Amino acid sequence: MIVCVCHRVSDRDIARHVRGGMDFSDIQLELGVATQCGQCESCAREIVAQCSATSPVAAIHHERAGCGGGAGCACAAGGPAA
Ligand code: FES
Repeated sequence: MIVCVCHRVSDRDIARHVRGGMDFSDIQLELGVATQCGQCESCAREIVAQCSATSPVAAIHHERAGCGGGAGCACAAGGPAA
């Protein structure tokens, strides 16, 4: 799913950078997310939070499921998407 239309950044791009150790500010600089119109900022921040180092297992589930961990993601509801 494309999160940032202005810079064509997907949820998977963001998740990959979080797993690489970047925080939201790093990702903003690297990918340009939330640096133009700003409409994507809350969604991008949510993805960063969901995929942060505090929940690496959830990030793995999101990657395997290809769900991106969005609002409708079964992983976010507490169960991994099979
Ligand atoms: S949609 Fe991300 S800056 Fe516009």
